[in-house]
Amino acid sequence: MSDDLFKKVLSHAKEYGFVFQSSEIYDGLSAVYDYGPNGVELKKNIRDYWWKSMVQLHQNIVGLDAAIFMHPTTWKASGHVDAFNDPLIDNKDSKKRYRADVLIEDYVEKLENKVQKEIKKARKRFGDNFDEAQFTATHPRVMKYREQQKNILQRMAQSLEKNDLADVKALIEELGIADPVSGSKNWTDVKQFNLMFGTKLGADAGSAMDLYLRPETAQGIFVNFLNVQKTMRMKIPFGIAQTGKAFRNEIVARQFIFRMREFEQMEMQFFVRPGDEIKWYEYWKEERLKWHKSLGFGDAYYRFHDHEKLAHYANAAADIEFKFPFGFKELEGIHSRTDFDLSQHEKYSGKKMQYFDPEINQRYTPYVIETSIGLDRMFLAVFSASLQDEILSDGTSRTVMKIPAILAPTKVAVLPLLKKDGLPEIAQSIVNDLQWDFKVTYDEKDAIGRRYRRQDAVGTPYCVTVDHQTKDDQTVTLRERDSMKQIRIHITALRQHIQDQFDLRNWLK
Ligand code: GAP
Repeated sequence: MSDDLFKKVLSHAKEYGFVFQSSEIYDGLSAVYDYGPNGVELKKNIRDYWWKSMVQLHQNIVGLDAAIFMHPTTWKASGHVDAFNDPLIDNKDSKKRYRADVLIEDYVEKLENKVQKEIKKARKRFGDNFDEAQFTATHPRVMKYREQQKNILQRMAQSLEKNDLADVKALIEELGIADPVSGSKNWTDVKQFNLMFGTKLGADAGSAMDLYLRPETAQGIFVNFLNVQKTMRMKIPFGIAQTGKAFRNEIVARQFIFRMREFEQMEMQFFVRPGDEIKWYEYWKEERLKWHKSLGFGDAYYRFHDHEKLAHYANAAADIEFKFPFGFKELEGIHSRTDFDLSQHEKYSGKKMQYFDPEINQRYTPYVIETSIGLDRMFLAVFSASLQDEILSDGTSRTVMKIPAILAPTKVAVLPLLKKDGLPEIAQSIVNDLQWDFKVTYDEKDAIGRRYRRQDAVGTPYCVTVDHQTKDDQTVTLRERDSMKQIRIHITALRQHIQDQFDLRNWLK
């Protein structure tokens, strides 16, 4: 994993119609992106894969599509108006704006890089006898770096918790942190910056209502908790799932579609009896990790990061981190949110948000386990782990997107070997039949080898080639993307053969 791979991800995403910069002809809009024809298919397939596993395969989880606009009191109740802030700092010389906590975290990351260098050196020296745990616990330089890391992060967390922004600035100055662009250490004071985008509802400037674009989809679920529970006669434990856009005015918007200002979330709130929440929290941590692993990238791509410092409403929280080209980063959050949100909405709306549990004959405010994943971030995970350059046995190379077949934008490409002798007509009739079941594409341009490479580059799992033999015996060549193996198969057997690869049972069971 490297900068090179990340650069390749960016250029491949654009060149092959997956992701474009928003409003590119006007030089783009920072941290806002558009999905091209291949991107929109991949994104939809990821969303469907999530929806099917969460809603279709759980009898006690139902869906919802709440509006992006919500009554502004929602965000007072949820705590977003007062606390959904990032600490920002400007550099007076470069005029660049940064998140103060990110500058400090980047400094800590540099210390960690030094630790990793020491480990690498020692591993080389000691070979098979190297014991990493013992080395890091006893080596004086490594111990010093680790101690510094701990102290810095602890001090930052405490200062942010107390909203002591002067101390956050003091920490940046004491560590000698310079503007990564200009090298200048001429900093402004640290200020809190609310991440919600504001807008107005109504035409009349005087009476227009201040609204926010939702910064998470979750609140649409909380405010509809009783509507859904009553109309669908749901019994606790049950969940409500939703996918949809969310908006955050991110200060540091970098790393492509990893951190965007407009993005899509896939969230599920699972309502449980108070006291049962930790059991369900553990359950959903494992379930969600299993979902990720079902895609077949391998265990090495995932790790849990259990939060030590918890948000005021949570009593347990963990991230599923993914090995992106720029290192392990959060892909999904699993949070035990207690009864915080429902209680707050009860307080601010004056409406009861409670549930009568017939099994124990008690009324209570349910506790909530939340699973929350960014669809765009999942897209980046799938895209970057799938993109590979391969050297083939004949010494040539190919770029192939080994996208899990179930998520591939196009499932089958149908290719007539030549543009004559009736081959295009046969190929077109195969397209006409298969397109009822799969996303299929037809391509007759260029030599067959180049067409295979083009399909490899967008991750199409199957190519069907029609040649002169097809006219004699109704068979075609079926080429599989990853192995590049080719078999001869009768046209009437094609659909069934391909269908098995896209059967959800083979992925999620
Ligand atoms: N309702 C809980 C919630 O929103 P979060 O950790 O702020 O929690 C959940 O966000 C997930 O949404 C993250 O794990 C990430 O995948 C995605 N996400 C958050 N901010 C994002 C951004 N600016 N761009 C893309 N994805 C983002």
